[in-house]
Parts: sequence; C-alpha cells; structure tokens
Amino acid sequence: MCGVIGYVGGKQAAPLMLDALEKLEYRGYDSSGIAVCGASGIQLAKRKGRLSVLRACTHDGADLPGCTGIGHTRWATHGEPSDVNAHPHLSRSGKVALVHNGIIENYAELREFLAERGYTFISDTDTEIAVQLIDYFYRGDPVHAVRETVNMLVGAFSLSIIFADYPDRMIAVRKDSPLVIGVGENENFIASDIPALLTHTRDIIRLGEYEMAVIDAHNIVVFDRFGEKVKKEIQHVTWDAGAAEKGGYPHFMLKEIMEEPEAIRNTVHPRIHTGDIELEIQHIPEAAFKTLDRIFIVACGSAYHVGVVGKGYIEKFARVPVTVELASEFRYNDPIITTRTLTVIISQSGETIDTLLALREAKARGSHILSIVNVVGSSIANESEDVLYTWAGPEIAVATTKAYSTQLTMLYLLALKLGALRGNVSPSEMETYIKVLEDLPAKIDGLLGERELLQRLAAKYFSSKDIFFIGRNLDYALALEGSLKLKEISYIHSEAYAAGELKHGTISLIEPGTLAVALCTYAPLLDKMVSNIREVKARGATVIALCQAGAQDVAAVADHVIEVPAGDWLVMPSLSIVPLQLFAYYMALAKGCDIDKPRNLAKSVTVE
Ligand code: F6R
Repeated sequence: MCGVIGYVGGKQAAPLMLDALEKLEYRGYDSSGIAVCGASGIQLAKRKGRLSVLRACTHDGADLPGCTGIGHTRWATHGEPSDVNAHPHLSRSGKVALVHNGIIENYAELREFLAERGYTFISDTDTEIAVQLIDYFYRGDPVHAVRETVNMLVGAFSLSIIFADYPDRMIAVRKDSPLVIGVGENENFIASDIPALLTHTRDIIRLGEYEMAVIDAHNIVVFDRFGEKVKKEIQHVTWDAGAAEKGGYPHFMLKEIMEEPEAIRNTVHPRIHTGDIELEIQHIPEAAFKTLDRIFIVACGSAYHVGVVGKGYIEKFARVPVTVELASEFRYNDPIITTRTLTVIISQSGETIDTLLALREAKARGSHILSIVNVVGSSIANESEDVLYTWAGPEIAVATTKAYSTQLTMLYLLALKLGALRGNVSPSEMETYIKVLEDLPAKIDGLLGERELLQRLAAKYFSSKDIFFIGRNLDYALALEGSLKLKEISYIHSEAYAAGELKHGTISLIEPGTLAVALCTYAPLLDKMVSNIREVKARGATVIALCQAGAQDVAAVADHVIEVPAGDWLVMPSLSIVPLQLFAYYMALAKGCDIDKPRNLAKSVTVE
C-alpha cells in the first residue's frame, strides 16, 4: 500500500521519480507528490488524483530542479484524498520532508505531545506527526532525529526522509512495512517495491526491522535500532524490466492472465524429478510432516481462496485436518496450536500485514511455518521457517491472476508431497497425479486462445446488477474467487454460494433475469449441480454453466455453456479459473472500468 520512491545521484530527481511512481501506481493512486532538495532548499508538489495530474502541474518534473528527492503515491488511511493530505509532508521549519507507508497507531498521543510543544498541523494524516517529531528532535544530526522519532512510533511504517541541510542525502527506516534500496552506479534509490527500480538497477538491499539507511550517491550505510552498523548483503533480482511492462497488452491484468501457462511451468517443473516431487524444505524436519495433527492455511483475499481449494487437496492426499483462516481473523481467534501444527502462509507480495502478523502469532504459539510467496526476500519469506516460492514474476495488476494460479499448483504439489510422506500416495499414484499437473499449462494455453465466447457473454451481461456464482466442493472454492474477481474490477455486486446452501436462504434473491454462473467441473457431484441449476432456472435465473467438455446434462439445462478440457477433477480449479478471470476482465472492460487500478483498492496491503 502506498508507493514510495527516493533518488540521490547525478540526474534530475523529479522526472526520474515520476517515471518510477508510474510503475508503483498499483500500490495506491488517490493522490501523489514529490519533494526535491535543490539549491533553494526543499521544493514540494503534491496533488489529489492520478499521477498524471502531478505530472501536468510540475511540467513533467521540470519545475522542481535538484538531484535528491522522495516521492509517493497514496492509498488513504488517515484523512481523505486531498492535496494537503498527499505526501510528502514538510516540517514546520521547512527543513525536513518525509513520505510514509503504513499506519502510525499512536498518532493521536503524539499529536498531543507535539501540540503541547507549540506545533500545529495542516493535514489530517498520521504522517505529518512523524515529520514534525523529526523536526522537534533535529539539532543538526539527521540520524539522531530520525532515531528518536522512530523510538516513539507505534505501528507499521517505512519512512523516507530528506533534509534541506544535507541536499545530497536520504534516510530510510522501516518496521513491518516494505522498503528496498536500489544500488546503482554513482546513484542510489529507495523504493517500496522492486518494479520501480528495474529500469535503473537489479541490485537491491532489503532493510530489516528497525534498520535505518543513510544513503548518498556513493554510499549506503545501514544501522540497527541501537545505532550499530550492519553489514548488508546485495541481492540481485532476476526479474527483467520488461516483466513489469505491459508488453503490447492493453492491461497488465490481461497480460498476466496470458502469462499463466509459463508461470505454472516455472513453478512446477523445477520441483519434479523422475516421477517425484522435491520441495526446497530445509528447516522443517521431514519427521514433523509425518506426525502433524493439524494444518492451518492462513491468507487474505484471493490467497485465502487458494487455501480453500488447498484444503481439499491436502485432506484428500495427506489425510490431515486443514483449517483455512482469514489472516485478519486468525490472530484474534486464540488459535489452538501445538508443536505438531503446521501453518501454511500464502501471499503473493509477502508483505500483507494481516498475513505477516498472523504468521508471527502462529510462530509464537509453536507452529511450524511454511510459506508460499511470490516476492523473493519479502518479509513473510524472511520470517518463515521454510519458503516455497511461486515463480509467477512480478504481478502489477491489482487483481491477482497468475499468482493465484501458481499458488494453486504449489498447494497441489505440497499436498501430494505430504501424501507421499505420510504413506497415503503410492509412487504410481504420484506419477499419475504429477502427469495431470504437467499437462496443465498446454490445456490453459488452449483456453486462452478461446476468448471470444467470454467477450460475447460480457457484452450481453455487463449491465447486470447482481451475479451469483454457485458450485460444490472444489467448484465452490473456485466460485469464491470467480465472484471476487468480478466484483473487484467491474463493481458488479456478486455472491459466491455453495450450491446446496442456496435453498437455505439465498435463493430468495433469485428473480427473473438474475444471472447465475454455475460451476460444474467437480465430477463427483455433477448430478447435484444439475439439480441446483434447475432450481435457480425455475425461479427465472439465466445460467452460464462452466463444465468439462462434453457434459451433456449440464448443456441441456443451462442458457450458455463455457467448456474446459475434460480431465481429472483435481486440476479443474486451475483450468476453470482462466475463463472466470477472463469473464471478469471483459465485463470490466465493457463497463469502462479502470481494470488495473480498481477504485478503493491497492496491491500489497500493508495496513491492518
Ligand atoms: C484480489 C487480490 C487480493 C490479494 C490479497 C492478499 O485480486 O489480489 O485479495 O489476494 O490482498 O495479497 P497477498 O497475496 O499479496 O498477501
């Protein structure tokens, strides 16, 4: 949440930062701003609205000359989106400017502390408190002032700061909020996320909890919370710059859907070795997997929906009870954990604060922690006992697609591996199930070539007010994701329901013309789904059914049929999600929505 950039070097900072912020706009886009340290002190420009507004009012950055600067795109937490609430914030003295990602929880108390010392405030933000506190402690030593301030802050924050007295220096500090330093040649960078850096450098340093970096064009000095110097490792990111560009597609979302076969191949292939699965688990002992009493899968949003499918996989293959919990609920639920519990954490960004805090809760209670993460070296990856990386590459569209699909295949691999370790999956079954997975990317390729039907359905139904997604078992788990995808980008109200549960209340919402998307790929319950379709049709619903190719019974009752290649029902979620993502995409396109940056949302949710 919130995009942050910082630059120090020999180039003009403002235009460079505006370009970098464009790559970060997916993190927040209700307002933006930049501050540059030039010959005449700190100059600031900030505007409500998209980055293009800031670009126009600064003449593409030309109005703010100087080679050191910080910039921000905001996702509002404290205070509505407005020019004055936008970051950077400037201190009373005009000597300090700061951008912030996260939430300062004790801001009311700190505001009082500062008010008693004569400070007044012009914005409604928690961030302004941080910059005035630095101003209060500043007596010519930036490091001291920032350290004193950070010691008083409660919450999650990453702060990037410039001082008028030190025009060739930036300071960065973080706790529970992502921040990376880009290492360049005679120039250095700060960013909340790697895509902002890729056109400049792929060498990065990740700051740890409470670490502070003092950065100029040639040096990066990092201190721990007690002021001791820390030697940091430079990591080389393998993502190339093109991976974070649209590459000719109208939207990142479509590009990322089209990348799914490749992303799945990259996730699956390195883990298959002569008919067996090898996972890079080094710290959790193999014996622990054999004696598990329970597995928690903890995640948010789409990653949580992956967990709901994953529960089906793990319980089938490994026969261990699985509880799937929303991360924001889990940590307050007093979870029952023993040393024989495994907690599987799922996160694309690896920075979702609810998920990170849930991880810490599970760890503190003695659980083993295995995470499935896309961003290498992210906070969740760092704090896990073991990490299984999904190799989806950078995901820029706010609505997740390829990361969801790779997480799904990762859970399938994990479930199979657990099943084999626990003696529930024989070597020959293993080979069969692996083959099913290996065939998947080619089948998805085929589905991606058949987008026309989905375009036609979207053209017909984009003005729907309510859409129901129904399914049973794995299809129900998938309905949750199909419905979320649709509502988050097209703003059409939608509900996902277990098809058998409709008659216990929700069916009263079905009226003539209501659109229902019936997921019918779960072969063992196909007959029951056909009956459920009949039930909603009898109340006037129009039904789009998604089924395996050749499912005549379904075709006979539905108004429209979307087919996926027939095969093992276990991998059906990985196939069915593709038309559901495309359906949401084309519905949003037909409505003229801002697909990659849906309203009110942001990628990587780093506030609780
Ligand atoms: C929906 C979506 C979100 C994320 C959720 C978790 O399309 O992208 O629901 O899945 O915010 O994010 P990560 O996976 O980064 O922890």
